[in-house]
Amino acid sequence: MAPIISTKNLCKYYGEEDNITKAVDNVSVKIDKGEFVAIIGPSGSGKSTLMHIIGCLDKPTSGQYFLENKQLAQFSENELAKIRNDQIGFVFQSFNLLPRTSAQKNVELPLVYAKVRAGEREKRAQDLLKKLGLGEKFQSTPAKLSGGQQQRVAIARALVNNPLILLADEPTGNLDTKASFEIMDILKNLNQEGITVVMITHEVDIAKQAKRIISMRDGKIVNDKKVIKNKKNADYGNI
Ligand SMILES: Nc1ncnc2c1ncn2[C@@H]1O[C@H](COP(=O)(O)OP(=O)(O)OP(=O)(O)O)[C@@H](O)[C@H]1O
Ligand SMILES: [Mg+2]
Repeated sequence: MAPIISTKNLCKYYGEEDNITKAVDNVSVKIDKGEFVAIIGPSGSGKSTLMHIIGCLDKPTSGQYFLENKQLAQFSENELAKIRNDQIGFVFQSFNLLPRTSAQKNVELPLVYAKVRAGEREKRAQDLLKKLGLGEKFQSTPAKLSGGQQQRVAIARALVNNPLILLADEPTGNLDTKASFEIMDILKNLNQEGITVVMITHEVDIAKQAKRIISMRDGKIVNDKKVIKNKKNADYGNI
């Protein structure tokens, strides 16, 4: 089976020659459909930059990127925006919800852009919110919700277009331990239902709940291992 994500010698450089930052430096990686991958590594190691390229939020300086066999590195901004809207779901550390807008309307937003009619939008948003345990909170604005609840709204919004891949940049970074594990349970369940998940985290305990851990340093992948359950001291590289 062809991988869902495949990069070859992917590079993203910032700055000029004498002051260059190699944010992503020659990354070749394959991710199959149905995987649950955690990306770890120190601050500045290129995790978010790599995820932004995978999610079509950014273009590489050089190298190749294939999403389901489509070579994306040369695509125009418009083509990338369409792929991003149709096929990628994003979840961020800071939730990024519209503050004065209800949970349901926040979830509906990508469907407004996709020109889905109102009745269908409502149904899909409500079904997902119910599935994520927010059946009582359709009309609540983000300020009335806990951090964990806000992140669940953000996950519902990321899923409402039935994306191919869910990308999460430190989704538990602003949450306490209990809420973090609840969010991880949700991501694990979604992955079991078949969605491919790629998640950045700073926490080993969180990373170990994925099925595979990729470790980055200085823009490069320095470790790439399957998670072995019940093995306490497995070496997954540094965070
Ligand atoms: N728009 C930009 N312009 C210039 N340099 C950038 C830009 N974005 C990122 N960088 C640099 O690229 C490198 C990688 O950044 P990136 O945000 O990918 O790291 P990260 O691993 O996600 O870090 P963190 O764990 O702190 O989020 C850093 O040195 C950063 O300063
Ligand atoms: Mg980052």
